[in-house]
Amino acid sequence: MVIESKITQIINSELPNAEKLQQICDLLKKNVPHFHWVGFYFVHRGKKELKLAQFAGKPTEHTIISFGKGICGQVAMSNENFVVQDVAEQDNYISCGMEVKSEIVVPIFQNDKNIGQIDIDSHDLAPFTKEDETLLEFVCKEVATLNLDTILNQDPS
Ligand code: SME
Repeated sequence: MVIESKITQIINSELPNAEKLQQICDLLKKNVPHFHWVGFYFVHRGKKELKLAQFAGKPTEHTIISFGKGICGQVAMSNENFVVQDVAEQDNYISCGMEVKSEIVVPIFQNDKNIGQIDIDSHDLAPFTKEDETLLEFVCKEVATLNLDTILNQDPS
């Protein structure tokens, strides 16, 4: 519950959106021991690809992900949470390092449209609980209250 109220506090603060998203990544990574990488991907408006926005953890070369590719690209199309307790069991998976053993991706909706997602990588096998999913759904609902037009309209790069 403490994390949830801190998230709401960040969302309702006067900080720029980019800083809010960064603080949320940092907070989740710091407070949930099995969250080793936390990042937001957003859909490029008018393009069938995701672009990495803020993240906490090791930098990744996977800053652009096409719809359908990897766990993230599949969630962009399915509109559903994807909990992968063991990435070795997934064929359609983009590796961000041998140390990553599991991943959870939860979509963000604005006006019923899938506009992005939060992506968590863990170095642990099968660490994710129903509580993690509920927490991340809460985070996504809070993020959806922000005006994300600048992020969503950015030029592809
Ligand atoms: N593993 C993801 C790629 C993004 S990284 O986890 C940061 C995927 O399969 O889509």
